[in-house]
Amino acid sequence: MKKQMKSLRECINEAKENKRAVGHFNISNAEMLRGVFNAAKNLNVPVIIGVSEGERQFIGIKQVVALVKSFREEYEYPIFLNADHTYSVEKVKEAIDAGFDMAIYDGAKLSLDENIKNTKECVDYAKEIFKNEGREILIEGELGYIGQSSKILDAIPEGVKVEGDGLTHPEVAKEFVEKTGVDLLAPAVGNIHGMLRVGHDPRLDIERIKNINNACKIPLVLHGGSGTVNEDFTLAIKAGMSIIHISTELRVAFKKSLTLFLQENVDEIAPYKYLKDAISAVEKVTTDRLGLFNKP
Ligand code: G3H
Ligand code: ZN
Repeated sequence: MKKQMKSLRECINEAKENKRAVGHFNISNAEMLRGVFNAAKNLNVPVIIGVSEGERQFIGIKQVVALVKSFREEYEYPIFLNADHTYSVEKVKEAIDAGFDMAIYDGAKLSLDENIKNTKECVDYAKEIFKNEGREILIEGELGYIGQSSKILDAIPEGVKVEGDGLTHPEVAKEFVEKTGVDLLAPAVGNIHGMLRVGHDPRLDIERIKNINNACKIPLVLHGGSGTVNEDFTLAIKAGMSIIHISTELRVAFKKSLTLFLQENVDEIAPYKYLKDAISAVEKVTTDRLGLFNKP
């Protein structure tokens, strides 16, 4: 009998038990998706594809669902799709209806009460779908503001705290998880969206990750992975991070490689030729990151 493919929840729980993390990579087009998929498949590890509101608008919501599904079905491969940083309940519902495997309601900039109320509405909607259709969609909540763009930064984004009291408090995280019923939580633990031009981001508060993990008991998600030093990734996974997000590093690799190719081949006009190296560049970054996240 054919073996049933693992669900996203099973992949995340398995990673948590084995002190590994599932890699989550943002894409803007089919080429980046191909690069990420190649890397995951070569290493034989599950992978999550993320699309922000802008990214999914660009590719097309139904189109990105169909693309990821095509890889999952053709290769019988555990590749999943996440509606990354979604700022309204309506858009979370839209992604769920379109066939996403998980969604993030991002209320990090709202008051705690409003964040709890809206996140819970998303959780309730996902539960309703499960009851009616048997389709399981995981909902992630966000607690603590870490910036909003995956880009090269000259300074820590305004309003972002990278240490001390500005970070997510374990007791508040516990309250948030209990009141919303979220499947996953993304706290602020010194991480930032985007990557500092100097080459590396601030160090993570590993002790805080441990405390949040002990208080909440659900898998934690580390956003803003680009620019994080390797040692922090390893320590953060041991402390309780079960999914890690990477976006800026892929964007940089894709653009650098494409720019170089076009500079050296000014007359090349076939997209399937001039995009080839960019796919390989995305594959390389993903391979390095997945290797680290899945280190035994
Ligand atoms: O949700 C997306 C990520 O958290 C990516 O962050 O651009 O710093 O890798 P990053
Ligand atoms: Zn993020």
